[in-house]
Amino acid sequence: MKVLIIGQGGREHALAWKFKQSKEVTQIFVAPGNAGTALEPGIENIAIAATDVGQLLKFALTQQIDLTIVGPEAPLAAGIVDAFQDQGLAIFGPTQKAAQLETSKVFSKNFMAKHHIPTAPFATFSNKDKAKAYAHNHPLPLVVKASGLMAGKGVVICNNEIEAIAAIDTLLNGKNSEIVIEAFLQGEEVSFIVMTDGEHIVPLATSQDHKRRDDGDLGPNTGGMGAYSPVSWVRPVLEQKILETVIRPTLKALQKENTPYCGFLYAGLMITPQDDYYVLEFNCRLGDPETQALLPRLKSDLFTLCWAATHSQLLDKSVEWDERVVVSIVLCAQGYPGPVKTGDSVNNYASDCTEDVKCFVSGATRHEQQLITSGGRVLCISALGQTVHEAQSKALYWAEQVDWPGKFYRKDIGWRAVARE
Ligand code: AMP
Ligand code: GLY
Repeated sequence: MKVLIIGQGGREHALAWKFKQSKEVTQIFVAPGNAGTALEPGIENIAIAATDVGQLLKFALTQQIDLTIVGPEAPLAAGIVDAFQDQGLAIFGPTQKAAQLETSKVFSKNFMAKHHIPTAPFATFSNKDKAKAYAHNHPLPLVVKASGLMAGKGVVICNNEIEAIAAIDTLLNGKNSEIVIEAFLQGEEVSFIVMTDGEHIVPLATSQDHKRRDDGDLGPNTGGMGAYSPVSWVRPVLEQKILETVIRPTLKALQKENTPYCGFLYAGLMITPQDDYYVLEFNCRLGDPETQALLPRLKSDLFTLCWAATHSQLLDKSVEWDERVVVSIVLCAQGYPGPVKTGDSVNNYASDCTEDVKCFVSGATRHEQQLITSGGRVLCISALGQTVHEAQSKALYWAEQVDWPGKFYRKDIGWRAVARE
């Protein structure tokens, strides 16, 4: 079987690496991919941008691709799934309309309110004065969110009114015409990701991202600085409740609204100390870096699962996991999440560090065998261990070996779990 993976980050490197382990898969293309996928034996990069739907479709038709997997949200927003399905091609991901769950926070919040899916109280605005009046009249902290896609950088937590006014002024601009303002929720975040064919659901293991840039969950929000899986305090009973009150009603409501959903569905949840939970956001794809923490633990054949899901055959499928924990640490270029310095040579890069430590490439190109930094998040080191502490120590060791000027990373990924151990 020939597989095409769309995207160019660490998530897509991890996906391509996992698909390579399937006996069913004979050829893997990644469009456009990165240095990590280029250097991985048996994987070929194709120089087509992830959002160039026309060229991707042409490529898939001429190469007779059997299954396409969409990594990031931008191609979903550009309607890649609709275009491929129109041509009878199998593609795993939601249609443009279903992907509004992620691509429009206004749509997503209104959808949740309408279908009684637990989420923070909110209001939506396209007028700055009205938004500021709302902020003035509501208890702080407040969270101001751009409605459109902002690569994880469109959310500002405001501790006082001055910050709220600044966030409203910044996020409600020409590029983004709507914002959501919602109540700040206390608790611990968990990423709950499932695979679905629209009707049947296969939940993946739980994971936890670390969105803030600095140790101790300080500093600005980022696309994600590291993750671990599983989040063992989320017990099966709680997982089942989330399935029944968040995931299933969401899929049912979409189906009823004539927008059946096929793909990975990711609920970003805030779980309170009382085990109450609220959806912070839906993503219509796998998370990055959650994928790099999940896939090294996945024992089942990912191709078989994605194939079944695109052919409405998920009913009898389940997944098997390595009992061990994975901690994934993202190594960033100086300046991230703001404008970054790129073009630095990466020293001591090894894709397969050891049998249980893998280095995925997020933002690097290459010159022959040499990696050159090209993005804010450059590498992601995923280590397996018996405990979170052990996995974290291994990942930290390898994070120190690889190097370039200005490299930085969090030293405390998984800290809450380590404290519990
Ligand atoms: P979102 O893109 O909506 O998931 O927001 C990005 C990040 O901002 C989340 O992962 C949380 O860390 C934080 N966040 C968003 N909404 C809230 C909220 N209502 N209360 C507390 N933190 C939030
Ligand atoms: N790790 C968060 C995301 O992928 O949106």
